[in-house]
Amino acid sequence: MFDIKTLVRANILAMKPYSSARDEFKGEASIYIDANENNLGSLAQNQSFNRYPDPYQRKLKAKIGFIKGVDPSQLFLGNGSDEAIDLLIRLVCKPGHDEILTFGPTYGMYDVAANLNDVFLRHISLDENFQVQISKLQGQIHANTKIIFLCSPNNPTGNLINPKSIEYILRNFAGLVVVDEAYIDFADAESWSKRLAEFPNLVVLQTFSKAWGMAAVRLGMAFASPEIINFLNKIKPPYNISEATQLIALDALQRADQLPEMIAEINQGREYLQQALKQVPVVQKVYPSDANFLLIQVTDANKIYDYLLQQGIVVRNRTNQLNCYNCLRVSVGTDSENKALVEALKALAEKRFS
Ligand SMILES: Cc1ncc(COP(=O)(O)O)c(C=O)c1O
Repeated sequence: MFDIKTLVRANILAMKPYSSARDEFKGEASIYIDANENNLGSLAQNQSFNRYPDPYQRKLKAKIGFIKGVDPSQLFLGNGSDEAIDLLIRLVCKPGHDEILTFGPTYGMYDVAANLNDVFLRHISLDENFQVQISKLQGQIHANTKIIFLCSPNNPTGNLINPKSIEYILRNFAGLVVVDEAYIDFADAESWSKRLAEFPNLVVLQTFSKAWGMAAVRLGMAFASPEIINFLNKIKPPYNISEATQLIALDALQRADQLPEMIAEINQGREYLQQALKQVPVVQKVYPSDANFLLIQVTDANKIYDYLLQQGIVVRNRTNQLNCYNCLRVSVGTDSENKALVEALKALAEKRFS
């Protein structure tokens, strides 16, 4: 039986978390002089910004939990999902000793967060269809392998990882399995957060940065068992989600009914780009995508990247990533931005550029 306490670092099990003024007094009072705030007011327009925010974001979690179909006790909010990635590594990986495992090419922050925490990242390559091959795990998992990160839909390849592979790993790996679903809203697939009850070692990451259009706000979600969430709460900075972020997110959630329309429009843009780019001679391959971006293989990624820059179009050059030789990653833009990209690449073809 999985028990998160057997994975959590001994120093974290033993430590006492910071106890904030808001932790120590939770009732109603007429005078609050317990947190060294400025009781005269605020230079910010919103006068309530003189107070520290709710460290556990209760109002926000109740709303998100309702929309996502999870109990608020199964929800952690981070300063972007990047914060959750870092905290998960810190929670269970002993610096200089433990390992995490990823399947590449994939999102770069797993590597950065592992390096920052002096944790070894073992990298297994995805196959030619950018899928996980379970046989490649043979001999790669050790007693000090604490987390497997699976990004689905994967960045930068755009595809969903086969659910059978994810399920196999969840059933057979004794550590944490983190399924990063930053792009799940663009995919025709159910979130793994629906299966938390089945898999006590599962952590699902999602974010407000993509479909919700709130990258600047910095708000990420981790869904997991209440036991795992409690540990993340224990080690997080006390006020990691600002009041501004909480208010903006609560406001955006009121318009949640507009989300499907926005996603449908982005997915239509993806469909247009998929079809149009296939007709462009310098584009050799358009990989299938379940996300809001496409990975395309071109005749010469470096030259075409520079050429597009000259046209005022910035794409992401992924040519140096594993199995991504001559690949560019392009986000789905507005209709006119999508057309501008296609036209720029077509013009390049007419110049017989290769
Ligand atoms: C797969 C993946 N996970 C997480 C993130 C980070 O999301 P956030 O903005 O919530 O930190 C990104 C951002 O590009 C991403 O591609």
